[in-house]
Amino acid sequence: MKRIFSGIKPTGILHLGNYLGAISQWIDLQYKVDESIFCVVDMHAITVERPEKLSENILNIAAWYLACGIDLEKSKIFVQSMRPEHAELAWILNCFSTMGELGRMTQYKEKSEGKKDSVSVGLFDYPILMAADILLYGATDVPVGEDQKQHVELARDLAIRFNNQYSGTFIVPEPIIDASVRRIKALDNPAKKMEKSAGSEYNYVALDDSPELIRKKISRAVTDSGSEIVAREDKPAMTNLLNIFSGVSGRDIKSLEADFVGKGYGDFKKALAEEIILFLEPKQAKYKEIIADKDKLRKILTDGAKSVEPIAQKTLAEVKKKIGLGI
Ligand code: TYM
Repeated sequence: MKRIFSGIKPTGILHLGNYLGAISQWIDLQYKVDESIFCVVDMHAITVERPEKLSENILNIAAWYLACGIDLEKSKIFVQSMRPEHAELAWILNCFSTMGELGRMTQYKEKSEGKKDSVSVGLFDYPILMAADILLYGATDVPVGEDQKQHVELARDLAIRFNNQYSGTFIVPEPIIDASVRRIKALDNPAKKMEKSAGSEYNYVALDDSPELIRKKISRAVTDSGSEIVAREDKPAMTNLLNIFSGVSGRDIKSLEADFVGKGYGDFKKALAEEIILFLEPKQAKYKEIIADKDKLRKILTDGAKSVEPIAQKTLAEVKKKIGLGI
């Protein structure tokens, strides 16, 4: 039995990194596995700051899931905070985790840099909540971008640790990372990942960017020295742009490189911008339709939360019983 679980934090806009690193895998995998569950992980969205329009953001992200092709015939979608079992299991898993292993998490180190004593306990503890999300549903596979690999590995370690003490409780999950995408880099700095919390909007292409804005952002994207349009280690910017081109067009990198032999960065960027626009337009139209009916969307999410309740409650009850919590 293969069950996938994944989620996105509703901290702001969705960008092409989220799509190519995570959502595109979800769309594909939902037809290949027995069960898929996709969550809007709102409790993860409050660890650094409390986004102003969190409730609105949650609905927006859910609408994007559907607009991108999450198929309700195949998949369940819901909101993390609507299932109390996540927080409850996270507490229990806290007691099986060490300060040392959480302190080694790269994302924590990056986000707490220079402010160690003033970041929230939630930021430190975040990977445990993520482990709870995954283990609660007995996910066999977790499709994510590469930046989340370390967190999925922690979920694996915790599952194994718990099982060593209380055998056969958790399924040990595998991360699924699309090797061709892995990590989409920022348009304005190919040494960093594309990120919604980045200071500048020239970092990313948002899924809801207008054609004009996409053209502007791509035309300003950083390039490498030289003029060759190839994906190579010494050409991080072009490698990233070619990855994006390949992701939105479905064409392989080699054939794209062949198309642009002897052409300049300007031609390439124009073609890339048009390809992204073509790719996003139908999704944007679908998104507008879905978000226009918020009541329907709320009902989908409420039904989703109900439909995963039996799995969540069963796991939590088993965990509590094995430890001896309650009477
Ligand atoms: P989040 O919300 O930061 O990102 C959502 C998904 O998008 C992927 N991603 C990227 N992939 C490639 N290139 C990029 N530049 C890029 N930026 C983001 C992320 O890897 C992720 O798959 N902790 C998670 C959310 C989470 C979760 C979970 C995921 C909470 N519980 C359980 C899976 C299972 C996060 O912050 O992702």
